[in-house]
Amino acid sequence: MGEVIGFFSTKGGVGKTTMTANVGATLKHEFDFEVLLVDTHILGADLSSHFGLLNPPVHIKDMLSGKLPPEKTIYKDPRTGINIIPGPFHPDTQTSTFKNFKKYLHPIKDDYDFIVVDTPPWLGRETSGIIKGIETAIVVGTPTISGMLEAKRTFDLLTRKKASIGGSIINFYRGFDYELHPEEIEGFLKGVPVLGIIPEDEKIRRSLGYGVPAVISSPKSPGVEAIVEVSSVLADVDYEPPKRGFLSKFFDMFSR
Ligand SMILES: Nc1ncnc2c1ncn2[C@@H]1O[C@H](COP(=O)(O)OP(=O)(O)O)[C@@H](O)[C@H]1O
Ligand SMILES: [Mg+2]
Repeated sequence: MGEVIGFFSTKGGVGKTTMTANVGATLKHEFDFEVLLVDTHILGADLSSHFGLLNPPVHIKDMLSGKLPPEKTIYKDPRTGINIIPGPFHPDTQTSTFKNFKKYLHPIKDDYDFIVVDTPPWLGRETSGIIKGIETAIVVGTPTISGMLEAKRTFDLLTRKKASIGGSIINFYRGFDYELHPEEIEGFLKGVPVLGIIPEDEKIRRSLGYGVPAVISSPKSPGVEAIVEVSSVLADVDYEPPKRGFLSKFFDMFSR
């Protein structure tokens, strides 16, 4: 029976979609799990673009409206073999409700080991149904004061909605002394553990142009290695991160 994991932040641009695409791709490619990715950001959907699909012919609104059964809204990416329920290219003006999100999604849980859900940066009344369908919520934050205020807002909102919060991921780490430490971040989030720290890595941004997640297009880059490590924590599998010697760090500096 698959576990439904969702990446959350009330702020845009922190890496929710990037984590969904790359953690999902890691679970499939590195750890051989059956994975389904779901884009619930219906007003700004871009998860499938990480796989080169810009204008999906079928999408989550077809599932939410009951027009198509969930399995008929799945796009199987031919290059990675990953299954995706994409979001719509055109947001469309009708309000979509996630009232039935859990009802439609959970019956297909048996087909997967993990269902990884990308979420919108607003979690109002229409979208709170997303939270009900998630079994493990992960807060995505950045290691600055403003980043942490937003992570705390996200944490409080998820707590109010009775989500089960599995931890946080700190993205865009740059190694500056003004950045917050994991212990400070955990203090902000009432002891919820920091599961991983992902460095800012140009290869991650670049992968969007290739239409292939960075964990597949640039497996040796530092950001990717951190994502693989955090994926192993989320999936609870033993994983020994590769040892990085001086030379590989030296080459990283010049391959940016
Ligand atoms: N660790 C990282 N290093 C460099 N660029 C990143 C990293 N994480 C995300 N990005 C880039 O930041 C932008 C916003 O990320 P995205 O995942 O779309 O955020 P969100 O879904 O929270 O709005 C994208 O262009 C993505 O490629
Ligand atoms: Mg996004």
